Amino acid sequence: MCCTSFLGALLSFFIIAPISHSVITNYKSIIEDFTSTCITESNVEPTMVHDMIHNGNYVSNRALQCYLRCMYLKIGLLDEKGVINETAVKENAGVTDERIREHVVQSCRNVKGRDLCEKAYNLSKCTYYTVKSWHP
Ligand SMILES: *[C@@H]1O[C@H](CO)[C@@H](O)[C@H](O)[C@H]1NC(C)=O
Ligand SMILES: *[C@@H]1O[C@H](CO)[C@@H](O)[C@H](O)[C@H]1NC(C)=O
Repeated sequence: MCCTSFLGALLSFFIIAPISHSVITNYKSIIEDFTSTCITESNVEPTMVHDMIHNGNYVSNRALQCYLRCMYLKIGLLDEKGVINETAVKENAGVTDERIREHVVQSCRNVKGRDLCEKAYNLSKCTYYTVKSWHP
């Protein structure tokens, strides 16, 4: 556990600069109310969630994908039919800059997935990397 996240941090330091600290803090405050519920529901490895938020490491793991489904239904980014709420996408993008929020919606509104777990995962990954590319 210590060493996986150490390695992750080391790798992200050399390969990709981590996403801005303020964005991470915003993401954590958005998800904090539902973190334990969604970890329990999806049975995801908590270190995998941590590594995703801190290092952008989107492991292609079913439990992680369904963790994001749980989270996105709770915060209203997706509904049960898979309809994306673009207002909620903007509000939960982790940034206040309206131009970056607009880039996120433009880039990510058409993400697909075979079910809600994959769709939520794709949407989260798209949001994360769009914000990362625009936020210094
Ligand atoms: C979309 O999300 C916003 C902000 O959370 C909310 O106010 C609005 O009611 C939602 N729209 C729908 C159709 O659920
Ligand atoms: C989303 O998920 C599906 C299924 O895993 C994948 O085929 C697709 O390429 C993904 N990406 C986007 C941007 O839709």
